[in-house]
Amino acid sequence: MTIRVCLAGATGWAGSELARAIARVDDLTLAAAVSRTHAGRNLGDVLGEPRLNCPVYATISEALAHPCEVFVEYTKPDSAKFHILTALEHGAHVVVGTSGLTDDDFAEIDDVAKLQHRGVLACGNFALTVVLLQKFAEAAAKLIPQWEIIDYAHDDKVDAPSGTARELAARLSKVRHPEVTVAVDRTVGSREARGATLSGSQIHSVRLPGYVISAEIIFGMPDQRLTIRHDSGNSARPYVDGALLAIRKVSTLVGVHRGLDSVLEL
Ligand SMILES: NC(=O)c1ccc[n+]([C@@H]2O[C@H](COP(=O)([O-])OP(=O)(O)OC[C@H]3O[C@@H](n4cnc5c(N)ncnc54)[C@H](OP(=O)(O)O)[C@@H]3O)[C@@H](O)[C@H]2O)c1
Repeated sequence: MTIRVCLAGATGWAGSELARAIARVDDLTLAAAVSRTHAGRNLGDVLGEPRLNCPVYATISEALAHPCEVFVEYTKPDSAKFHILTALEHGAHVVVGTSGLTDDDFAEIDDVAKLQHRGVLACGNFALTVVLLQKFAEAAAKLIPQWEIIDYAHDDKVDAPSGTARELAARLSKVRHPEVTVAVDRTVGSREARGATLSGSQIHSVRLPGYVISAEIIFGMPDQRLTIRHDSGNSARPYVDGALLAIRKVSTLVGVHRGLDSVLEL
C-alpha cells in the first residue's frame, strides 16, 4: 500500500529535493503540494520531474481536500503551526521539517495530536550526522555537567536559534540541566553576550555569509573539553533520507515526538 503525502513547501530548497525523492520511490505518492507562487500548476512541471503528477495549491485547506495519510510541513516558521494544526484536524499524521517552533507550540500541537490520535514527528534536522550528534551529546551530558551550544547558519536564516539547537537543548534538559558557575543574570556587562537560555542550555547563534548549517556543543570540565560538531554542505541531500524515513514511520506514533531517533533503532 502506498502512503499518500501532502507536502507544504514543495517548491522550496528542502521541499523540492524531498518531492523529487518521493517521485523515485514506490511506496510513497505525492497527492498534493502547497506553494503560493506556483499555485494552479503541476508540481512535475515546476520541478522538471515528469514522474511527479501532483497539483499545487496556494493554501493548505485546498491541498488537504485530497486525501492523504501524511502531511509534511516544510515552509516557514510563521505558517508552520497553523499548517500542522489544520493537517491534524483533517486526520493526517504530520512530519515537521520547518524550524522555529517553540516548546510551547509543540505542547499545543501535542494536545491536538493526542486528541486526534495522530503522530507528529518533528525533526529540527533530518541529517544522520545530526541524529548522531544528539545521541553522543546525550551520552556526554550524563557524565559532564557543563555545556554550551553554538549554532551557525547563513546570514538570511530568519529564525534563531536553529531547530537543531532548540531540539538539542530540549533533549539534554531531559538528561539534566547544565550547571553554570556564574548565573547568567549575574553577568557583569552585557547579559546578551551569554546567549539565549533555552531548556536550560545557553545557545549562541551565528548568522553569517559563508556558513550553511552547523551545530556545535562544547562540554567543559576542569582542564579538559569535548567538542561535538556537525556541518552540512550546500545541497539539501542530507535531509532527504531522514525525511523519507519519518514519512514512513510517523503513523506508528501518537502525539509529538522530537528527533528522528524516535523512529530509529540506535
Ligand atoms: N528539518 C530539516 O532537516 C531541515 C532542513 C532544511 C531546512 N529546514 C527548515 O525548513 C524550512 C524551509 O526551508 P527552505 O530552505 O526549504 O525554505 P525555502 O526555500 O524558502 O522554501 C519555502 C517553501 O515554503 C513555501 N511557503 C513559504 N511560506 C508559505 C506559506 N505561508 N504558505 C504556503 N507555502 C509557503 C514556499 O513557496 P511559496 O513562497 O511559493 O509559498 C516554498 O515552497 C525552514 O524552516 C528551514 O529552517 C529544515
